Amino acid sequence: MTSQTAFAKIDLLQPAPTQPLGYYDYFGKLLSPQEALQVVVNKGLNPNDPISYQRVGAVKITKELVAQGEDIFFNRKIGDTFGLQGVFGLGQGFTKISNELGVAIASLQGQPTTNLKITLQNDLTVGSRTFPQGTVISTGLKVQRGQVVPLGNAPNGDITCAICHASLSNNGKILAGVPNGELAISLLIALSPNTAAGFARLNFNPLDPQYKGNGKTIIDSKGNKVELPDPEKFEKAFDDAVLDVPFGNFESSPDGIRNTTQIPNIFTFKDHPYAADGQFAVGPFAGLSAINNAVHSSEINLLAAAQLSAETLGIDPEVYIGTFLQNAAVPSLRLPEGVIVKPSEWLRKLVPNSTQAELEDQIPAPRTRTYPNLRPSLFTYNGLVFSPNTQKPGDIASGPFLFANNAMSAFQNSLVPPANQTSENWQALNSNSVKRGAKVFEKANCATCHIPPFFTDNKIYPIDEIRTNPARAQSRLGLNNLLVPPKLYTFNTPVPIPANAEVLDVPTQGISDSPTTLPKGILPKGGYKTTSLRGLYLSAPYLHDGGAAVRAGSLKVDSNAIAVVDKSGLGLSGTLSLGIPADPASSLRALVDRDLRALVVKANKANPSLVRSNLDGTGHYFYVDRQAGFNSNQQTDLINFLLALDDNPGSF
Ligand code: HEC
Ligand code: HEC
Repeated sequence: MTSQTAFAKIDLLQPAPTQPLGYYDYFGKLLSPQEALQVVVNKGLNPNDPISYQRVGAVKITKELVAQGEDIFFNRKIGDTFGLQGVFGLGQGFTKISNELGVAIASLQGQPTTNLKITLQNDLTVGSRTFPQGTVISTGLKVQRGQVVPLGNAPNGDITCAICHASLSNNGKILAGVPNGELAISLLIALSPNTAAGFARLNFNPLDPQYKGNGKTIIDSKGNKVELPDPEKFEKAFDDAVLDVPFGNFESSPDGIRNTTQIPNIFTFKDHPYAADGQFAVGPFAGLSAINNAVHSSEINLLAAAQLSAETLGIDPEVYIGTFLQNAAVPSLRLPEGVIVKPSEWLRKLVPNSTQAELEDQIPAPRTRTYPNLRPSLFTYNGLVFSPNTQKPGDIASGPFLFANNAMSAFQNSLVPPANQTSENWQALNSNSVKRGAKVFEKANCATCHIPPFFTDNKIYPIDEIRTNPARAQSRLGLNNLLVPPKLYTFNTPVPIPANAEVLDVPTQGISDSPTTLPKGILPKGGYKTTSLRGLYLSAPYLHDGGAAVRAGSLKVDSNAIAVVDKSGLGLSGTLSLGIPADPASSLRALVDRDLRALVVKANKANPSLVRSNLDGTGHYFYVDRQAGFNSNQQTDLINFLLALDDNPGSF
């Protein structure tokens, strides 16, 4: 009751506070300079020495740090060159369409585009699909004015955060933090010659008899001879599974579950915990530095996942490494012909020092044991921390321990949704529809979870309660029994880490029941965090799986009824599975109207690719429709309100 009256007094259309410069982050708490000083003094350290703050784990949020984070976010490659290029072959994959990309960019004549369309010069075969010569593919890649390389892409095939987490306005302005929701990630990834190196991300067991054929024989960790899958068969099957995934969706965890998510926006300030299930909740910036770290380590480091493959996937690490290497993009990295090897030994023969391969710019977190036997923690789910050497020439991510991850946090926390300047928003504001919609939002109890001004309660709701597709919610359950307490070196520690480095305990109180259990709400069966609703007008479709999706022009809405005028536009099948973006207003209507949602879910479930990928748009049964006591105008007002949630919702 008290909280109900409390939020009723808050104007839902007020702009949200922004990250204040000069303040400190202290493991997710925002401290004023005075409060930070007190923390330092309480630890017996000198408050006049900036190092003291780094020693307690406080990060000063400055203009410089934000700018450095921005630079890293837009320009620093992610992933180790050995794994991503040498073995997986991301760049080699791009070269299969590089002529087409070149022609498409040249024909822009310096003009920007929000979706680069290529025309295939030859037949292109990926998995069991052949795209015939002349096929036009909308890649979703953004090209800035006068640029010859797409945003977030380097000519050698390296990528940065910006390929997924930035967009362009129609006049070519960069929109940092807006998801590239139409990016053809699945296709771009499937083009790589050894996409199957990422097999652990989906439900693929290399020893499944259906993949038997010309695989090499290796010695596994128990000393047994094992035959690996046929490289061609396995690659083809995996490419097909990747192509099942709609554009704008991506699989980021080696959990053996098919559970891609839509690329989210990253207006991250006060939007913790992070990722759809809230698995990144502890450490600096309330888990934000942990997810930045994950992108650079556990999520993209394909090889290090071998450490836990036996425990989490039931796959012997030698089988894991062998499968990864036998079809490597660079032939000299493949398992040798005519001899039977233990793949981990072959790997070390190829690259004796792991820091020149899978551990490029990665160091083990304190007290996680040694590689390749690292244990996961709530801060790092593979035991590794991305932290290039302090004095690494030419690397903008170089600095003291954890510098780059914290800088990216400060940058992302400075991002706010851009103003919604569509004529629809102008009309909705002027006709007071947005204001009426705010009342509907309260009346429908949406604000109990989506609390203004950030429109989240920062909680993780158990899957039994929220009932959206459970696949993603379960991603980390397999790690729960393996966790060690999260610890970090102090933030003044140089890299490489000296022997006497100081270690900090990462606080977990209030976040998880113990330092070695997953965040509350995830256990026992998985859960999803309350997504912030800011910037919704730029992030259709909706729900973590993007399943609440409707194509523009599919609905006819008047004050009495909603009519579906084009059934083919419903669901992911009618939108991103075809590379066509979803319409924000129509997709929100599908979220809040139960009859329309049923049709959208039906369309998703009629598509075998989506069924295999666990993408359906079910759950989150909170409706604003006739059965819930709202008429169609009120539903429209609610949608207009949701679409108005930008940097300053009440004004244009
Ligand atoms: C290939 C596309 C891709 C790239 C590249 C990428 N991300 Fe993401 N990012 C995603 C997807 C998909 C998710 C959703 C994951 C989930 O919820 O399970 C995500 C989630 C996030 C989140 C969580 C947002 C929230 O509200 O919970 C943050 C923060 C983030 N990414 C930051 C980064 C940073 C920083 C980089 C670069 C170091 C990066 N990402 C690179 C696709 C990408
Ligand atoms: C019990 C808490 C709760 C209530 C009540 C609630 N939501 Fe949510 N909402 C969530 C959670 C959790 C998610 C994330 C679910 C997922 O992605 O699987 C979510 C997701 C959403 C999304 C999708 C955001 C995106 O970017 O994909 C929208 C829109 C939304 N809610 C609007 C509403 C509206 C409108 C209401 C009221 C009719 C409402 N919610 C009621 C918890 C709640």
